[in-house]
Amino acid sequence: MFVCSECGEEYIQWQGRCSVCGNWNTLKEMNVPAETRYTGTRSGYSGGTAEEPVVLANVVGQQEQRVTTGFSEVDRVLGGGIVQGSVILLGGDPGIGKSTLLLQVVAKMAHTSTKPILYISGEESPAQIKLRAERLGIHSEMIHLLPTTNVETIQATIEKTDPALVIVDSIQTMYDPQFPSSPGSIVQVRESAIRIQHVAKSLGVPVVLVGHITKEGTVAGPRTLEHLVDVVLYLEGDTQQTLRILRAVKNRFGDISEAGIFSMEDKGMVEVTDPSRFLLSERVQSPGSVLAAIIEGTRPMLIEVQALTTPTVFGYPRRTASGFDLNRLNLLLAVLQRRVHIDLSSHDVFINIVGGLSVKDPAVDAAVCVALASAYKDVVLSPTLCVLGEVGLAGEIRKVIYQERRIKEVQSLGYQVVDSVKDLAQLVQKVVRPSK
Ligand code: TYD
Ligand code: MG
Repeated sequence: MFVCSECGEEYIQWQGRCSVCGNWNTLKEMNVPAETRYTGTRSGYSGGTAEEPVVLANVVGQQEQRVTTGFSEVDRVLGGGIVQGSVILLGGDPGIGKSTLLLQVVAKMAHTSTKPILYISGEESPAQIKLRAERLGIHSEMIHLLPTTNVETIQATIEKTDPALVIVDSIQTMYDPQFPSSPGSIVQVRESAIRIQHVAKSLGVPVVLVGHITKEGTVAGPRTLEHLVDVVLYLEGDTQQTLRILRAVKNRFGDISEAGIFSMEDKGMVEVTDPSRFLLSERVQSPGSVLAAIIEGTRPMLIEVQALTTPTVFGYPRRTASGFDLNRLNLLLAVLQRRVHIDLSSHDVFINIVGGLSVKDPAVDAAVCVALASAYKDVVLSPTLCVLGEVGLAGEIRKVIYQERRIKEVQSLGYQVVDSVKDLAQLVQKVVRPSK
């Protein structure tokens, strides 16, 4: 059969374009003899099936059993801890800190667990993991390492040791000897995951699968696994910076609106309980710097927006944005030019969101505009100034979701938010003032 490497759709014949996800050239041939095809549960929480429908009103509800990870930020994202028998996929760029975070979770859980915790590594040798553990100050009898890439070994070990938690680092390195294709291929990734999931469900053991994302999705990515697992988490951040955000994009046992915030330090991941203070700790006052309040999960967070403008020396003016959408920047520049009469068409423009954050929240629009005006006019803004609002094409400033919650956070940290001005030109005039 043919399987789309993007969405995992199956076809019986090749075609140039996947008719489900619309991607071109993503169908890969796989050789699966029908009788060896593993027929575990393909998805679903309990794994159990019934012949007859049941009346919903008569179903006895039961609270899932959760184990806490010892990391309140991780628990928050999971909705209160790891559910027994759940399969969690942790995705993220290489080097972002997935293995580090999981090793720390394992260590914290080992403190209280009476059952062993199984860390299966297909990427690193036990010696390498030991090095990391030493760096993190981890030493526990309850952590069992299994360096393997064979899911048959994994299945046998889980059945034998009945662990409290299983980490599979990473799912891309695993293979099921029943299938002829090589590890990392779409077939192996999927079939290995299905098999591990089946074991997890039947024994009630929670499993965390680590998955790398590649930009093009050429290697069988965690994408195809997303519908298979119960929870999908992504660890995001800039590998050159310390801030990391753990986000849930799917959770069958909780809502996905929470995010966990960490800082990658010398001794591993440290929870950041006060992200605003963390992000603003190194702030210096200069033209082009202003604060904005974004929402991360359900928590408001203060960030610094920086702008710099310089006259274009040669040719076409440059627009560079780090952590902010370039198209959005171009739009805001057009609004500034037409509605505020700040013409940056012969200036190079740079925007930076401090801390390596990538911000999609429209609430920073106003801050970007004010930062640009302040940089262009070379005016230092009030150090406590925070602006909030989405900018429309007419130069109007619109309210954003959770406006009150954001304002509360801003005020609780001793900053002032300007939210009464509904027009960008007026706002710029009001706050960007040369001091005499
Ligand atoms: P790692 O967890 O191996 O990333 P992943 O499993 O997502 O590929 O993390 C790798 C990076 O983290 C590496 O560049 C070193 C850095 N690091 C720290 O900054 N502090 C630490 O305590 C550890 C263990 C790693
Ligand atoms: Mg790793």
